[in-house]
Amino acid sequence: MSFPLHRYRRLRRSESLRTLVRETSLAPSHFIAPLFVVPGRGVRQPVPSMPGVDRVSAELAAQDAKALASLGVLSVILFGIPGHKDATGTSGADPEGPVCQTVRAIKAESPATVVMTDVCLCEYTDHGHCGALAGGTVDNDATLPLLAAQALAHAQAGADVVAPSDMMDGRVGAIREKLDGGGFRDVALLAYAAKYASGFYGPFREAAGSTPSFGDRRSYQMDPANVREGVKEILSDVEEGADLVMVKPALAYLDVVRAAKEATNVPVACYNVSGEYAMVKAAAANGWIDGKRVTLEILTSMRRAGADLILTYHAKEASEWLG
Ligand code: PBG
Repeated sequence: MSFPLHRYRRLRRSESLRTLVRETSLAPSHFIAPLFVVPGRGVRQPVPSMPGVDRVSAELAAQDAKALASLGVLSVILFGIPGHKDATGTSGADPEGPVCQTVRAIKAESPATVVMTDVCLCEYTDHGHCGALAGGTVDNDATLPLLAAQALAHAQAGADVVAPSDMMDGRVGAIREKLDGGGFRDVALLAYAAKYASGFYGPFREAAGSTPSFGDRRSYQMDPANVREGVKEILSDVEEGADLVMVKPALAYLDVVRAAKEATNVPVACYNVSGEYAMVKAAAANGWIDGKRVTLEILTSMRRAGADLILTYHAKEASEWLG
């Protein structure tokens, strides 16, 4: 027996009533803001497919991090675009590379900001794959020490959290061991635990110059059709020592976010990736959708699905809108 005894519209009558019974919260502290960092000084280059996103040099990235902190965004994640690429991505572990320089600059300019770093070789290899090659494919085990060396360099520069995004098997354990051996027991690990081989990364690859020169990433990133496999990846990354786990992309994978949340008790992040951002921006620029409204709706849906944290290029504008 429902209507007329129950009238659900009673609790929807005013903004105060709606706020009182709202189930999901969205705040700047839920966001992790991605920053693309390049060598040099005074560099700020817009990324054409991602309006509002720039590639910046270290000192400008530090200013951006400080501005984000003043809006309540407590964390940034750095993606490096190096001056030099080679077959094994050695510049990824360069203590004078843009990521390490930016970590130090942010720590000096905005000490409260939690600095995370993306750990992956694809931006640093001349072939654009996420690891060392052998026999025309990515060699899993040969890649592990390269990733661990990169993570250690980031930790030495002062990173609070390192975030491997390559999807090699065993990399969480290899990085944890290297960090502990180097005296960085307290540096945390955010694993891109369930990362799918997705068409939604297009604009990022333009921004980071990391499009593979041959083939694709399907032999290491996950098949979009699989959710049980995503849970398996998440559980084994936690077992290997991940402190936080992430699902990526987010919008087309909210069921995986929910499954991750139910399968673990570590914080779950999701990555609102470049293609998701670009679609909203393009439709809004054409006047086809209300960009602000749709952005906040999308971010709320990620929290509703179970994400504790959201990596998003909308971090700055959404924080301004949330006041
Ligand atoms: C790999 C990496 C990628 C993204 C984040 N880390 C690209 C890829 O796997 O091809 C994509 C993020 C986005 O699309 O916003 N270092």
